[in-house]
Amino acid sequence: MPPQWARDKKILLGVSGGIAAYKTPELVRAWLKQGCEVEVVLTDMGASLVSPLALATLIKRRVWRDKDLKSDDMGWTIPHISLSAWADALVVAPCTANVLRMAAAGDSSTLLGAVMLACEAPQIFFPAMNSRMWAHPATKTNAAALMSRGHRVVDPDSGPLACGYEGKGRLPSAEAILDETWYSLRADKDYAGRKVLVTAGPTREYVDPVRYMSNPSSGKTGYAIASEARYRGADVTLVSGPAHLRVPSGVTFIAAESARDMHDACMSALPDSDVIIKTAAVSDYRVKQFSPQKIKRGAASGASLTLELEQNPDIAFEIGHRKRPSQILVGFAAETQNVRENAISKIERKNLDLVAANDVATPGSGFASDFNSVEVFFAQQYGMTPRTFSGGKWEVASGILDSIAAILPGR
Ligand code: C5P
Repeated sequence: MPPQWARDKKILLGVSGGIAAYKTPELVRAWLKQGCEVEVVLTDMGASLVSPLALATLIKRRVWRDKDLKSDDMGWTIPHISLSAWADALVVAPCTANVLRMAAAGDSSTLLGAVMLACEAPQIFFPAMNSRMWAHPATKTNAAALMSRGHRVVDPDSGPLACGYEGKGRLPSAEAILDETWYSLRADKDYAGRKVLVTAGPTREYVDPVRYMSNPSSGKTGYAIASEARYRGADVTLVSGPAHLRVPSGVTFIAAESARDMHDACMSALPDSDVIIKTAAVSDYRVKQFSPQKIKRGAASGASLTLELEQNPDIAFEIGHRKRPSQILVGFAAETQNVRENAISKIERKNLDLVAANDVATPGSGFASDFNSVEVFFAQQYGMTPRTFSGGKWEVASGILDSIAAILPGR
């Protein structure tokens, strides 16, 4: 589920005649799954690439076609005006070069053209076309004209194109389109101009080429914080251990495997970060002697194996003792006992500004769970009382970001 504020939105989807139109039933389903309502305006060319009946069946509403612009079927209800007024966001996906031109020119000769001209809600265009058409100065000029009016034109993805070319022109995934829609719909950009570094997921410490020590951190909280911070306008860098989650769109992603990788990535991003949020479950130890060959089972039955471990760098500790006073450092404390005491002592020891503590011993909470309950403690100098957030990872992510926003220094 997306953040609470993104649910129940009214999405007006314009589908034009790019081959990627065949992907729009999946896109529509993704919005419906999030509790959104969807209306579809389908161009005539679009209707030759995706079935109007398939879309209508999914949204359980009629699909609006070009013929509706001039039809008197609807009596005094003028579809392009009523649809535009209804929508919280107008999303055009896929957007052909021609529809981009129509939007830029204010050409209202089709239903979609008239909707784009009449709609005052945020408009987001997802161009998808042959890479040469996308690179053409005429297309670039149209995209720039739309952006200069405050609309968003999202760069297509790169890869193999249906026309046989390889390059920029693919429609982004449904998840990425949803991400961009939430970004546009989040009006309150309280993190605008802030650089936020988030670490997430587990780390892996290899013992030999085929075995490692790790932990069950899923990375979900960190990824939710990274997404939410970006929706709220932050410039986000996500440093992640192996998490098997989709990288949120619009976020700079750095993959890390071991604690030392994560340390190096954090240290290079640190000078340029305003807020550092350390959700990663970093391995405290690694093997002292990595075995370059696979360790064999001992010949004697019951033979034991002893691995000597040495400490990894404590990244949060190092950042805490290096950071500028204006940088906000947020730590996490996954505890199995004495949650409050451990959280407060972590603030002091690591020089954190804020710590989000949770009791991982509570059944159904913490690691790899979709549900979480977190108590946020502030460093003493802020004089703030602790706050508790529970619910899905999104609720927890927004609660943590609200808590950080409360102590962010002004510019
Ligand atoms: O000391 P403890 O591991 O409980 O502290 C947890 C916090 O410290 C988390 O925010 C975690 O990301 C961070 N940490 C770290 N480097 C380590 C261990 C923990 O940055 N080696």
